[in-house]
Amino acid sequence: MSKPLRKVVFPVAGLGTRFLPATKVVAKEMLPVLDRPLIQYAVDEAVEAGADTLVFVTNRYKHAIADYFDKAYELEAKLQEKGKDELLKLVQGTLPKHVRAIFVTQPEALGLGHAVLCAKPVVGDEPFGVILPDDLIWHTAKGALRQMAELGQAEEAGVIAVEEVPADETDKYGVVDATPVDERSARIRHMVEKPKPAEAPSNLAVVGRYVLPGRIFELLEATTPGAGGEIQLTDAIEALLKEQGKVLAYRFEGTRFDCGNKAGLVRATMHMAMQDPKLAPVVREFAGKL
Ligand code: UTP
Repeated sequence: MSKPLRKVVFPVAGLGTRFLPATKVVAKEMLPVLDRPLIQYAVDEAVEAGADTLVFVTNRYKHAIADYFDKAYELEAKLQEKGKDELLKLVQGTLPKHVRAIFVTQPEALGLGHAVLCAKPVVGDEPFGVILPDDLIWHTAKGALRQMAELGQAEEAGVIAVEEVPADETDKYGVVDATPVDERSARIRHMVEKPKPAEAPSNLAVVGRYVLPGRIFELLEATTPGAGGEIQLTDAIEALLKEQGKVLAYRFEGTRFDCGNKAGLVRATMHMAMQDPKLAPVVREFAGKL
């Protein structure tokens, strides 16, 4: 894994049932936290990590994501005509000029592992990142994926983001059994998918950031589908661990908001509002009234 990370995969083909009915027509990744959709936060993090090729694994209903990163001719012409330069810059800035976006389709929602596998023809045999946009990770210094990419390159190993979660929530996550290396990283011994609290090897849960070698695609191809015909990314990472002996769990610096559920989206929105000098007093005043 000595090459720098250039490609990032965004698996965004899930059904987003926790946000129905909105997700009947609005992709979950297009839900906004203030004025930016979740996918924009994810893309910014990938670009900051050094990526110049972004691979979106979508389904046939999610045209909005492609439209969002496309040029908006009419709107841009209107803004230019009216001299609204600030807004024009915002509209044109969704994707930096040196970055290309590639869209591939996951024909059926057969799991996260299957979604990642759909990116194989674009990624090929090189290290790449995976970002699940519903995990919004707020940071003040380096973005989470950049921290992980640097570690992966230095250690020539796959890196999986983990976070300590309350002991009674392990059954919502993949959980790692790992030997600490330093304050933030640990060598994974084993991963368990959604263990009951009593059976969990730790409270270190896998969250939506991965740095993986191209080899993972072959391991995904060899993974037997589990419940519901789903191909689990965790199973392929276990296979990678057996084969390469070293995959790191990394406790990133930053605050994660799980925007895949309503409570997380509310928290993220309030947190981001508190970072904005104009909105912070509004939140304080309103929270006081509540
Ligand atoms: P989730 O478990 O959050 O599922 O997927 P979901 O469908 O997005 O949302 P809910 O649970 O129905 O509300 C985790 C990530 O994996 C992607 C999702 O888009 C999300 O980014 N995914 C999941 C796929 O791309 N394809 C799949 O087949 C499954």
